[in-house]
Amino acid sequence: YIGFGFGEKDEPKAVDKELEGLNEKYVLRFSHVVAENTPKGLAASMFAQLVREKTDGWVEVQVFPNASLYEAQDEFDGLMRNDIHIIAPALSEITVLDPKWLIMDLPYAFKDEKMVEAAFEGKIGELLFESIKDYGFHGIAYWDNSFKQFTNNERPIIVPEDFKGLTVRVMPSIALMETYRVIGAQPRLFSFNEVYDALSEGMIDGTENTLSNIFSKGFYKQQKYMTLSNHNYLGYAVFMNSEYWSTMPVDYQKSIMEAMDEVTVWLREHSQTMNEEMLYRIKNSGVIDIHYQTDEEKELWKQEFNSLYERFQNMIGPELMEELNRLQS
Ligand code: LMR
Repeated sequence: YIGFGFGEKDEPKAVDKELEGLNEKYVLRFSHVVAENTPKGLAASMFAQLVREKTDGWVEVQVFPNASLYEAQDEFDGLMRNDIHIIAPALSEITVLDPKWLIMDLPYAFKDEKMVEAAFEGKIGELLFESIKDYGFHGIAYWDNSFKQFTNNERPIIVPEDFKGLTVRVMPSIALMETYRVIGAQPRLFSFNEVYDALSEGMIDGTENTLSNIFSKGFYKQQKYMTLSNHNYLGYAVFMNSEYWSTMPVDYQKSIMEAMDEVTVWLREHSQTMNEEMLYRIKNSGVIDIHYQTDEEKELWKQEFNSLYERFQNMIGPELMEELNRLQS
């Protein structure tokens, strides 16, 4: 901001904007797949509002929820083509671009939200963002949802053998698919917004998701049993197109990052509570039988999944595996 008196009190705003290239309005299309009354849905709306406030309306974020523009896997292409400008896919979806992201899909790898936060804030978060640079994606935040739970129509899921022969919808991550194969179930790939119909038409027996997704999309109405397993974390990475980002005036970039950081902190503080509220509502509906996985049961499941760590360690790479070990100890 050298010269031209930028920032001086008496300088009219319009002149400043012109000098800085800020008199051009930016419209950013933000595509996501979940309902609006979920952690990601609310965060996206809040982000849009904050960006509007911070840029006096010069940057407008238009949010498209419920996959109204793209299903998760198609968002990557949309972002590359600049048809959309911000996406926040689930981490498991990104494993299709780079296997390093499988680190977040190893079952029971993360014991609580604190550990996930340490991963996002530390070396894991950094290395994962680096891994998608070649796609032209600029990672600007990690967003929280919560841990995933098992649901199905056949029987209560207490021990791993209970999954034998069941078909289960997963996101397109090889680690998630193998997780079910190891315990004798068959993984099935469906886009998020196809899951409700797949359940109601009996194309799958079960699924796994966070309580906010299970509630907001009505999955619980199509399922008889739920096990609160917290077996995997469902988080998000927020991406922009690097080239597009670099063409934006620095002032707007700053405002966008300020807004993003505020929302990220807000989400960290509220996503767990939101999911707990959804559990309360699911319970109150009385339509689904809920089993709380005990610590002893959890140990059994962990043993069952041990082989997956070995199986995927080379794809994930030593740097990330070592960092996970460090966080776990
Ligand atoms: C899913 O497909 O189950 C989730 O990734 C949806 C989401 O974005 O939370």
